[in-house]
Amino acid sequence: MKRGCSCYIWGMSMLVLFLGVRSQLTTDFYNTTCPNLFKVVRRQVQNALMNEMRMGASLLRLHFHDCFVNGCDGSILLDGGNDIEKLAGPNLNSVRGFEVIDTIKSSVEAACSGVVSCADILAITARDAVFLSGGPFWNVLLGRRDGTISNGTLASQVLPTPFDPLNTIISKFTNAGLNLTDVVALSGAHTIGRGRCVLFSNRLFNFSGTGSPDPTLDTSMLSDLQSLCPQNGDGNTTAPLDRNSIDLFDNHYFKNLLNSKGLLSSDQILFSSDEAVSTTKALVQTYSNNSALFFADFANSMIRMGNINPKTGSDGEIRNTCRAINS
Ligand code: HEM
Ligand SMILES: *[C@@H]1O[C@H](CO)[C@@H](O)[C@H](O)[C@H]1NC(C)=O
Ligand SMILES: *[C@@H]1O[C@H](CO)[C@@H](O)[C@H](O)[C@H]1NC(C)=O
Ligand SMILES: *[C@@H]1O[C@H](CO)[C@@H](O)[C@H](O)[C@H]1NC(C)=O
Ligand SMILES: *[C@@H]1O[C@H](CO)[C@@H](O)[C@H](O)[C@H]1NC(C)=O
Ligand SMILES: *[C@@H]1O[C@H](CO)[C@@H](O)[C@H](O)[C@H]1NC(C)=O
Ligand SMILES: *[C@@H]1O[C@H](CO)[C@@H](O)[C@H](O)[C@H]1NC(C)=O
Repeated sequence: MKRGCSCYIWGMSMLVLFLGVRSQLTTDFYNTTCPNLFKVVRRQVQNALMNEMRMGASLLRLHFHDCFVNGCDGSILLDGGNDIEKLAGPNLNSVRGFEVIDTIKSSVEAACSGVVSCADILAITARDAVFLSGGPFWNVLLGRRDGTISNGTLASQVLPTPFDPLNTIISKFTNAGLNLTDVVALSGAHTIGRGRCVLFSNRLFNFSGTGSPDPTLDTSMLSDLQSLCPQNGDGNTTAPLDRNSIDLFDNHYFKNLLNSKGLLSSDQILFSSDEAVSTTKALVQTYSNNSALFFADFANSMIRMGNINPKTGSDGEIRNTCRAINS
């Protein structure tokens, strides 16, 4: 009897643990309070992509950079103060799309005032951006509330950089509760969008002090990039992350890695570093050859990323404007 009792307690605590680990977010969170939410967001993302196809990539990246820093709480959108996330190294002169989020938030407020968080708007917007760029669709989990703190110092510590070695990138994902499948599948986001010369020019002339370019960069792509990004040129010039199909969300990112055509060092090391052999290389090969599996894994990993430390219940607030906390 005593034994059965402790088993019961063990079972209950496992259940609590299970519920704690799983998010409390739901797909139908706004069904009654904002029935047209998905239509309103979709129309605005469509407009933004019609205006500039690259915006799909930029909107996707905003959700990633929001979720990794203090959870998916809209903190990347906050203005004001000198240590905000927008000003942190990985974001400054780099993340974009804030005006599009402002427009979406205004349309959502016009449809249903005061109920939809900026954090949830980022999650829906990222899904629509991927889908409208040719990628997979998934049902977005909702019910996040907005945070009141934007921490630039933290952003600089937890966001991966293109200069990180593979073990650092993996541990930054692990610290966020994500695993190796998530690292490789989500890196596939680099099938769309652009990267600036300043973030890969270390590979082009004198890689790691060797006096030569990165040997894991295809030679014809190397000469293209050397002309695009000359030494002492404009570091803000951009190159496509997937030069084969720039704005199309497909699995060509992984085919590129097999052919030494990753743009960033952090892309190519998933396939080419010594460490990759025992961790990420096999997944790169699989996705390069199996677009359906990449799409399914990407969708699942986006849901897992969207579940990072959400604020629910009475935690946080529903911001009136995405750029400032409610007074
Ligand atoms: C694995 C670690 C990652 C690193 C080191 C990394 C790094 C970068 C860098 C350096 C850029 C170019 C930024 C610039 O030129 O200013 C970039 C762009 C981008 N990243 Fe990542 N990233 C990573 C993972 C992710 C993830 C998980 C996502 C989304 C799920 C993502 C989505 C994007 C997109 C869509 C762009 C293009 C943005 C645009 O064109 O505006 N990245 N990333
Ligand atoms: C919420 O709306 C979606 C889409 O219209 C529908 O599929 C779902 O059944 C609804 N859920 C509830 C609980 O009403
Ligand atoms: C911001 O993050 C840093 C680094 O993790 C931490 O030391 C600091 O306490 C945080 N600041 C706030 C206001 O939360
Ligand atoms: C990562 O987590 C997912 C979901 O739990 C799981 O399906 C997948 O196999 C895991 N990947 C690795 C490499 O452990
Ligand atoms: C490459 O960089 C190293 C270390 O920074 C330096 O010592 C070397 O002179 C450089 N080589 C060339 C060819 O610029
Ligand atoms: C990129 O542009 C910004 C804004 O104009 C500027 O402040 C920054 O110095 C530029 N960065 C590089 C690497 O040229
Ligand atoms: C892709 O799959 C086909 C058939 O399943 C196989 O013959 C081929 O070697 C695979 N290619 C790669 C790069 O894994």
